[in-house]
Amino acid sequence: MDKNINRSVCFFDSGIGGLSLLYECVRRLPCVDFTYFADNFRVPYGALTREELISIADEKFTKISKLKPIAAVLACNTLTAQCIDYLRRKYPFEIIGIQPAIKPAAVCKGKCVVLATPSTAGSKSLKLLVEKYGLGNTEVVACPDLAYYIENNISELSFDKVKRFLPEKKAGSVVLGCTHYVFVKEMIKDFYNCPVFDGIDGTAAHLCEKIGIFDHQCERIQKISFLSGDTAKNRLVFNTLLMKGGVNSQN
Ligand code: DGL
Repeated sequence: MDKNINRSVCFFDSGIGGLSLLYECVRRLPCVDFTYFADNFRVPYGALTREELISIADEKFTKISKLKPIAAVLACNTLTAQCIDYLRRKYPFEIIGIQPAIKPAAVCKGKCVVLATPSTAGSKSLKLLVEKYGLGNTEVVACPDLAYYIENNISELSFDKVKRFLPEKKAGSVVLGCTHYVFVKEMIKDFYNCPVFDGIDGTAAHLCEKIGIFDHQCERIQKISFLSGDTAKNRLVFNTLLMKGGVNSQN
């Protein structure tokens, strides 16, 4: 553990979406420092091409690699779907991504509907995931403007407005294929009236497993830094999560 002092796990998402995952990882790894990189003024990443996303991610990872991170987390389904293979080939540290939780959702009764950004919905990696775990009854639907709406209205999200971005489907289960959507998980559950899955717990568990730090006796104060994008907004949203006890808390 000593050798990791002053080093952190670096997170990257377009905007506030990845804060839901950051919260869960901070909670599980109290002895680890975290640095959050974002690009809020360029949301939505889901409207960009693979080439554009790779170029943005490469630029960000050049900065991240200078921090000699313990690991990097793509807290964004779009970046994971389009860039993780490229980044893993190029950078020498552990890179963890988030993928739609199709495996547990597809075993529910009825059709499994995956909601994702246009870029993720059209990606090869999601197609492979659906083939592998979708049990032949999984449909992927793009929600073009939902992440943008959430990013820009985080303090006043309304069910009536969120509804307008959701496709009418008869679903037996719904998978959130974008970290921004986690902020409206309860609304999505009310709209479809079925179980809703996200990849937060699975990805946080994967990070813990990969970096292998389980020392909960640590007495240092955990440091969480916000380094790019709208840092004031990201810190505020994160502090609100800390106060509420996470995105899905009813408090
Ligand atoms: N939060 C991201 C995701 O999980 C990207 C949303 C966006 O910027 O379009 O896909």
